[in-house]
Amino acid sequence: MHTPQKYSAVTRSLHWVVAVMVLATMPIGVIMLQEGLARPTQDLLFILHKNGGVILFLLVVLRIAWRLGTPSPALPATIPHWQQRIAKGVQATLYALLLVMAVSGYVRVRAGGFPVEMLDALGMPAMVPRSEALAETAQRIHGTARFPLAALILLHIGAGLKHLVARDGVFSHIWPPVGR
Ligand code: HEM
Ligand code: HEM
Repeated sequence: MHTPQKYSAVTRSLHWVVAVMVLATMPIGVIMLQEGLARPTQDLLFILHKNGGVILFLLVVLRIAWRLGTPSPALPATIPHWQQRIAKGVQATLYALLLVMAVSGYVRVRAGGFPVEMLDALGMPAMVPRSEALAETAQRIHGTARFPLAALILLHIGAGLKHLVARDGVFSHIWPPVGR
């Protein structure tokens, strides 16, 4: 496969849609659990978080599939080999952690017997048995995996901004989100 100058427009637009949604979903998840929220506000945040999380899952799966099926731009040779390996490792781990977060959130909600409004409206079965033990395990995974996810996102954004400032061409692999 030839090596393109940029990721495909689909990969780029998915990167930025997923980025914005993840950066909204994480604080919503934390805020919705705070004491003293008005009930309607809390309900709305839960609905946004759960259903947004399911949409994120679908977008991340689509993104991984697209990523594997289309050629990727190469990092410039001026970037040391070890740094390229770390970048690839961070990116792969980001994909993995997003899937872990989405699946554990879903299992936590379904095993606890709670609704996922969007899927319920579509008549989707829960696919997860009712079980307090399972709900608790999934909740623990969901509450734990967010820390490495947040840390890697900060590292990744820091690296991305460093490339933007350095003007070494790496940022334009993923920007603009649409167009050529
Ligand atoms: C908001 C600030 C962000 C900036 C400035 C940014 C920047 C970048 C850049 C420059 C690349 C291309 C790297 C390369 O060519 O190897 C990239 C790729 C990537 N970004 Fe981001 N990003 C941001 C947010 C996010 C977020 C929030 C996520 C997900 C949690 C994310 C996940 C990824 C992944 C998985 C790749 C790898 C693409 C691939 O090779 O499949 N990014 N990002
Ligand atoms: C990539 C997707 C997701 C991310 C990044 C994410 C992130 C978070 C974060 C940061 C929290 C706060 C955890 C805490 O303070 O203990 C949280 C809580 C929660 N999330 Fe998610 N989430 C995602 C997907 C989902 C999905 C798909 C569902 C359900 C369908 C879900 C359901 C929940 C629930 C129920 C809580 C409250 C947990 C509790 O009872 O302690 N999340 N999420």
